[in-house]
Amino acid sequence: MAEPIPVPDLTEEEARAELAALAENLARWDRLYFQDETPEISDGDYDAAKRRNGQIEARFPHLAREDSPSRKVGARRAEAFAPVTHGAPMLSLDNAFSDDEAVEFDARVRRFLRLGDEVVAYTAEPKIDGLSASLLYRDGVLVRGATRGDGRVGEDVTANLMTVSEIPHRLAGSGWPELIEVRGEVYLGHAEFRALNAAAEAAGQKTYANPRNAASGSLRQIDPSVTAQRPLRFFAYAWGELSAAFAATQAEALERYRQWGLPVTPQARRIEGAQGLLAAYAALEAERPGLPFDIDGVVYKVDRLDWQQRLGFVSRSPRWAVARKFPAERARTVLEGIELQVGRTGAVTPVARLTPVTVGGVVVERATLHNADEIARKDIRVGDTVVLQRAGDVIPQIVEVVIDARPADAVPFAFPQTCPCDLATPLARETTGSGAETVVRRCTGEFACPFQRVEHLRHFVSRRAFDIEGLGEKQLRAFFEEGLIQAPADIFRLARKPEVLEALRGREGYGETSVANLVAAIEARRRIALDRFIFALGIRHVGESTALTLARGYGEGAAFREAMNRVAAGDAEAVAELDALDQIGEAVISAAAAYFREPHNLGLIADLEAELVILPVAPPRSDSALSGKTVVFTGSLETLTRDEAKAQAEALGAKVAGSVSRKTDLVVAGPGAGSKLKQAAELGIEVISEAQWISRTGATAAEPADQGAGPAGE
Ligand code: IVH
Repeated sequence: MAEPIPVPDLTEEEARAELAALAENLARWDRLYFQDETPEISDGDYDAAKRRNGQIEARFPHLAREDSPSRKVGARRAEAFAPVTHGAPMLSLDNAFSDDEAVEFDARVRRFLRLGDEVVAYTAEPKIDGLSASLLYRDGVLVRGATRGDGRVGEDVTANLMTVSEIPHRLAGSGWPELIEVRGEVYLGHAEFRALNAAAEAAGQKTYANPRNAASGSLRQIDPSVTAQRPLRFFAYAWGELSAAFAATQAEALERYRQWGLPVTPQARRIEGAQGLLAAYAALEAERPGLPFDIDGVVYKVDRLDWQQRLGFVSRSPRWAVARKFPAERARTVLEGIELQVGRTGAVTPVARLTPVTVGGVVVERATLHNADEIARKDIRVGDTVVLQRAGDVIPQIVEVVIDARPADAVPFAFPQTCPCDLATPLARETTGSGAETVVRRCTGEFACPFQRVEHLRHFVSRRAFDIEGLGEKQLRAFFEEGLIQAPADIFRLARKPEVLEALRGREGYGETSVANLVAAIEARRRIALDRFIFALGIRHVGESTALTLARGYGEGAAFREAMNRVAAGDAEAVAELDALDQIGEAVISAAAAYFREPHNLGLIADLEAELVILPVAPPRSDSALSGKTVVFTGSLETLTRDEAKAQAEALGAKVAGSVSRKTDLVVAGPGAGSKLKQAAELGIEVISEAQWISRTGATAAEPADQGAGPAGE
C-alpha cells in the first residue's frame, strides 16, 4: 500500500473517494471476521483503517457517509487505541510546596552548574490542569497525536486531537525542524465545562466531576466525532523528539511556538533569580481566580536550554524544572439554607444549600455540613457568608464562617427534631455499642420512613433473616418501585394476589416456573424461628447473636413483644429483665425501646404476625454436659456448617469462642486445624473430632431453619 496522504493535505475529492473505499473495505473485513472467520488483514491494520476513517470524517464532517463504519454500533472487538512508544519519555515534575523549597530549587541549580552568585533566569508558566499530549509534526504537518500514557507508551489519539480547533494540522510560518514532537496540555475551559455538564445532565447522562476529567474523557473517545463536539483547548509548553534544535532558551521556544500558530499561555513570563520565582508565584496566584481555566500551580524552568541539557534528569523528572503547587482553592458564598438528607439507614445528614459559586473550576451549590455538632461548633447560620474549599476531586468543604459578613438577623441553626420524611418521625441521637451518644442523628421511622424502607426490606429478606430465595436486592427494588412490596407483610400477601402473579408472569425474565418458585420460597418462610424474626426486624444494635439471645430469653413471639412494649413504656422491671440477659447492654435496651415506641413499627409487627407462624425458641439448657462450657471450633467441619455447630453448642448452653485460651473447655478440630490445635495441646485442653462432637451432642444434620432455633444451614 502506498504511503497515505496526510489527512490535512487531502482535497475534498480525495477525502470523498477514500471514505467510500474505507466504508466498503471495513464492511467486507467485518463480514470476513464474523462469518468466515478468515480475516484478510491484521487487527492493527483494521484499527488503522477505522482510525483513518475517523480522522477524515473529523476534518470533513459533511462528507461522513450514511453507511460510515463510525456509525456502526457494537465494535467488532475491544477497540483500544493503538500504543505509541514516545521517542523521548514524557516525564513528570518534582513539586515544591513552599517559598523555601522554591529558593532551594534555585540554589540547587546554581550548585549543580557551579554558578556561584550568578543569577539564573527562569520561565514561570501556569501549570495547566488538564492532560498532557504529544503532537508529532513532520515537515510541519501533524502526523500523529498521543496521550502520555505511562510516560513511555501512550495511546494513539491522532483523530481525536485533530478535532481540537486550537491544534494546527499544519504549522504556520517557517523554521520548524523537519521533525518536532510538540508537547502540551489538552484542557477544557470553565465555561465549556459547565456547558458540557449542563447538556449531559439535560440528556440524563453522567456528568464529569471537574474540567480535567472531562478533558480526559473527551479526548479518549473511541469515536472522534464525539470528541469533535467537545470544545477542547490546547497549550504548548515543551517538546520531545527533535530533528534539530530550534531555540536557545525556553522563552524563545515558546515564542517560536506562538509564531507557528501553536497556542502558548499568555501568563508565561521570564524571571530572574529566587526573588523572581517568588514574585511570579504570587502574581499568578493573584491572577488565578480570574483565569477561564484551571491551573494548579506554577512551573519554573531554567531558561537556558544548554543549562537544561547539563542539568539533565533525576529518575522520572528533570533537574531543570519544578512545579510549585497552589494550596486548595477557596471561595466565598452565601449559605441559603440547610436541608436534611436521610440515608438508607436513617442517618440524617445536614446539607448546605449555597448560592452557586465556582471553586477550582467547579460550580458548587451544595456542601455537606456533616452533623449537628459540626454546625454548632462552627456556628454556621442560614444567611452566613462561608468560605468553601475544594482540593482536586475532594467534595467541597465549608472551612469557616465570615463573621464580619453575618446578617444582623441571623440566628443559630436549630437542628430539626423530626425527619423530613412525610411522617415527621422524631430524630434520635445515635448511640454506640457501649451506649455513648454520637454526633449522628437518626430517623426512628425505620420501615415507615420511605427513605429507609427499601434498605429495611433488603435486610428483612437477607440470607440470615427471612432468606427468601428469588427475592434478591434487584427484584426487591423493582417490586418496591412498582408498589407491589411496601412493607414486609406485603411479601406474604403477594402470593395471595392472583392479579399480581399474573402480571409477574408477563415480565421479562419471569416465566411460569420462576413465579411458582418465588411463591414456594415465600410460603416456606411463613414459619419462622423467633430469633430470625427478631433479627429481620432490623432493630439497631440487634445483630444475629443478640437476636438469638433475645429469642432464648423470651422464648415465644408474644412474650417478646409484650416485654418490649413494656421496655418502651419505661417499665423498670421489664428493663431489668432485659438487662439481665447475657451480653445485653444500654445500646440494645435504648434501641429496642425506641423501636417499640414507634407506632409504625408496632403496626408492621402486627401486620406480620397475621401472616406468619413464629416458632418458639428453647432457652439454652442448663442441664447438659456442655452448659456453661466454652467451645472452640477449628479447621474445616465436614458434616456440619460452622453456623450449625455454633447453634448446637449454644442450644446446649455452651459459649462459642474464636480463640483458644485458658478459659476454653473443649476444642472441636477438623482437617486443616493449625495453631489452635497446638495451643490446645499446650494448655492440656480436651480436643475431639467432628464425629465425636456429633455423637456427644446427639446432633445429626442441621435442623431445617423453620423448625428450631439458630440460623439455618448454608
Ligand atoms: S513541563 C519534563 N509545563 O504537569 C516535564 N508541564 O507533572 C515537562 N503541566 O505531565 C512538563 N502545565 O501534564 C510543563 N507549563 C507546563 C505545564 C506542565 C501543566 C503538566 C504536564 C506534566 C505535569 C508535570
